[in-house]
Amino acid sequence: MKKDLLTLQDITRDDLEKIFELSTKLKKERGNLNFTPLAGKSVGLIFAKSSTRTRVSFEVGVGELGGRPLYLDQSKMQVGRGETVADTAHVLSRYLHGIVIRTFAHSDVCELAKEASIPVINALTDEFHPCQLLADMLTIKEYSGKVDKSIRIAFYGDGRSNMANSLILAAKLSGMELVIAAPEEESPNRELIGDAANIVWEKDPLKAAEGVDYFYTDVWVSMGFEEERARRMEIFRPYQVTSKLFEKAKADAKFLHCLPAHRGEEVAADVMDSSRSIVFDEAENRLHVQKAVMTMLMGNR
Ligand code: CP
Ligand code: NVA
Repeated sequence: MKKDLLTLQDITRDDLEKIFELSTKLKKERGNLNFTPLAGKSVGLIFAKSSTRTRVSFEVGVGELGGRPLYLDQSKMQVGRGETVADTAHVLSRYLHGIVIRTFAHSDVCELAKEASIPVINALTDEFHPCQLLADMLTIKEYSGKVDKSIRIAFYGDGRSNMANSLILAAKLSGMELVIAAPEEESPNRELIGDAANIVWEKDPLKAAEGVDYFYTDVWVSMGFEEERARRMEIFRPYQVTSKLFEKAKADAKFLHCLPAHRGEEVAADVMDSSRSIVFDEAENRLHVQKAVMTMLMGNR
């Protein structure tokens, strides 16, 4: 594997299989105190945005692997007062064995990784959320037995969000069929899709639901976009995931959401709270895949 995990472009299909294998093993053997690849190591968790799942799963994950997690609120660091990202990277590389970072600009995470001599994991930027997609793909593998071109996934809502972008990269990596149901104003990034024939943009939400195995959605107002709330509520309204969409999908279609969810906005409450919803299995898998990734990037070999 490469030194850092900044987007899913950093991993190969082979890496993905290894992550699935190790995550599954760690999930089965959770509580095995003899597996401590991070023993004697410290991992800094820098957060410039709110978090429930990511913070807790990384803190718990580092601890379970025998390491020491350090939660660092970016607003309380000197980088928030003008210290450069490069100087921060050089200093942290002298203390820590790995950095996990959630912030706004993706370019800041790329610079941090370039300047740091230790592995850097992207825990969400405005553009990408790779750890979430690793957990999502593991969840799909658990339910469908595979993650390949036989799986059809439909994403509803903000086609330019960090989740939509990450799904595009996940579809490119795995071969899954991805349809992004989004309005023109926030349609998916064509450059990122490139010439991938398995990824399409569909304006009609009902049409996008045809033959779907997994519905996926995310908040209409991502962190950092709060002042666009009124416009977003308006344009995404037709893209709410409702039970009506399931009538067009495969009989056993499931519902995924990175969470946090807003019932009555991107998802109807009856879908979110139905037996089709596998969002808590998905959330749990964040812990297992991140433990696998940290073992592979930062672990004692
Ligand atoms: N899905 C996810 O990243 O959740 P948090 O924002 O709570 O970390
Ligand atoms: N798109 C959302 C994802 C939250 C996990 C956000 O960036 O706020």
